[in-house]
Amino acid sequence: MTRKKVLVTGGAGFIGGNFVQYMVNKYPQYDIYNLDLLTYAGDLTKHRDIELNDNYYFVKADIADRETIISIFEKEKFNYIIHFAAESHVDRSITEPEIFVRTNVLGTQVLLDVAKQFEITKFVHVSTDEVYGELDFDPTTFFTEETPLQPNSPYSASKASSDLLVRAYHETFGLPVNITRCSNNYGPFHFPEKLIPLTISRVLNAQKVPVYGDGKNIRDWLHVFDHCTAIDLVLHEGENGEVYNVGGHNERTNLDVVKTIISALGKSEDLIEFVQDRLGHDKRYAIDSNKLQKLGWKPTYTFETGIAQTIKWYLDHKEWWEQIISGDYQNYFERQYYL
Ligand code: NAD
Ligand code: DAU
Repeated sequence: MTRKKVLVTGGAGFIGGNFVQYMVNKYPQYDIYNLDLLTYAGDLTKHRDIELNDNYYFVKADIADRETIISIFEKEKFNYIIHFAAESHVDRSITEPEIFVRTNVLGTQVLLDVAKQFEITKFVHVSTDEVYGELDFDPTTFFTEETPLQPNSPYSASKASSDLLVRAYHETFGLPVNITRCSNNYGPFHFPEKLIPLTISRVLNAQKVPVYGDGKNIRDWLHVFDHCTAIDLVLHEGENGEVYNVGGHNERTNLDVVKTIISALGKSEDLIEFVQDRLGHDKRYAIDSNKLQKLGWKPTYTFETGIAQTIKWYLDHKEWWEQIISGDYQNYFERQYYL
């Protein structure tokens, strides 16, 4: 069998990083290229266990830098592109929206152009349930692939824009694409400014945990390993041009999530500090992933098993997140919460 070349953008980040490790180990017959700009969210130390593998390569590049991206494609004939690279943090998009448009919209368009020019076999665009906007608290309502796009934050608006470009390149040029829209991921190597790793790391350091508003907003939690298996399936079995939702039925209020972690670590709920709410804070996300399940996807984690695994991982990998909670990140944290 001829070897396949797989380009993973954003493979130094949280989900892309987990996906790169999953693919390198699962498919020795594939060459996995991790292309990443190494922004504040990119970190290569997570790949120590695979960096010497024969089928792993790293390329430092900016997806919005057309010339560089073209020159990379001229050198390597990629079969697949799995596109994770993005600015991904809603809070940062509220204070600094411009970079979200550049990376998430323009960067995606550059990749679509090269995918078309170099005739790749499949372009999987990793998107988010946030493009659908918010649901109210009625527990019988879910996002389906037919739910209209109504993004509420600069982040989700930039992701929705990129989704529309991906769709347009399929409709106009026949580019073989899929779009996946998943709920909130958690698990190993989650950057410690997002809710779950923020809570674990701060509780372990006996620091207050900031909960926005009344803590009643609801997210639908998906273990990152289950997200990797979903993308693997869509890459190989997804019907061209189709959107697949990923996630489902692990809905928790933010307060429940924080209390679960505090209790698992045997600490006091006095650590919870209610702080000013996020602007335009979406009330609730909940995913209907029936379409993907019909394709053959089945998650392996419940929230209970996934959060226990994740807490243990953070306890066992203190050195990873401690090196991240320093310098630039610390400055961000102080700006975001205390100034
Ligand atoms: P992340 O912020 O942890 O990682 C993003 C990665 O992209 C980083 O390694 C960063 O260096 C890289 N990057 C940023 N700008 C770049 C550029 N211009 N060129 C090349 N690389 C660049 O993000 P994540 O949480 O792993 O999310 C990955 C993808 O999944 C994103 O597209 C995000 O929208 C989507 N998503 C995330 C979640 C979640 O819960 N984290 C849920 C749904 C969808
Ligand atoms: O739904 C998918 C999305 O999930 C992805 O598209 C985003 O890339 C990803 O970052 C995530 O977005 P959220 O905004 O939901 O994740 P975050 O971890 O920032 O926040 C989760 C919830 O917790 C949200 O309701 C806001 C709240 N929160 C967050 C932080 C950082 C707090 O209450 N306190 C905090 O300090």
